[in-house]
Amino acid sequence: MTKRIAVLASGRGSNFQAVIEAIGAHRIPAACVGLITDNPKAYAIERAQKADVPVIVLDYASYPSKDAYEHALLAAMQQQKADLFVLAGYMRILGTAIVQAFPQKIVNIHPALLPGFTGLHAQRQAVQYGVKVAGCTVHFVDENLDCGPIILQKCVPVLRDDDEDSLAERILIEEHKCYPEAIRLFCEDRLEIAGRNVRIR
Ligand code: GRF
Repeated sequence: MTKRIAVLASGRGSNFQAVIEAIGAHRIPAACVGLITDNPKAYAIERAQKADVPVIVLDYASYPSKDAYEHALLAAMQQQKADLFVLAGYMRILGTAIVQAFPQKIVNIHPALLPGFTGLHAQRQAVQYGVKVAGCTVHFVDENLDCGPIILQKCVPVLRDDDEDSLAERILIEEHKCYPEAIRLFCEDRLEIAGRNVRIR
């Protein structure tokens, strides 16, 4: 059966775009039922409008506290009746209540080979550390940052003259393949979580 996917994004939304295009090309058996953003200026909003995806803007700055924002976000997410929530450059850490409300139903993409280089500026961290291989990771979201069970990873080389931007660009190309692929596996009911391990059927 066709799954319902909702996306959370805070900015540019190129991964969101890759997912919409994969759905449009029937590479993911799903419908994108909504975009939720915390940022009224996110370019992802324009992408959603072009693709006829309904948008919910929860302007973080207009809430009196993080709790109030999270409360609204939880309600918005429940309203989506989604089978899967896709974090695509969503720049806030989801609170425990939200993570617990949707166990094994939220995925994220991180621009590093986890468990290395968690948190912000992962590509900068990779360049500064001097690793020779970098990449991206799609994982389920649990209560700890960038820590849930890993679904897929893709590697890229780190070249001699790379800086943060050139490495990020190379990783992003892989992100746009990796995320749709992982979401497809989820939507085909082919992911089986056993502890930290995600088995692909
Ligand atoms: C990507 O690098 C993703 O891995 C990270 O945030 C960035 C979002 O880019 N979580 P975009 O908004 O999808 O273009």
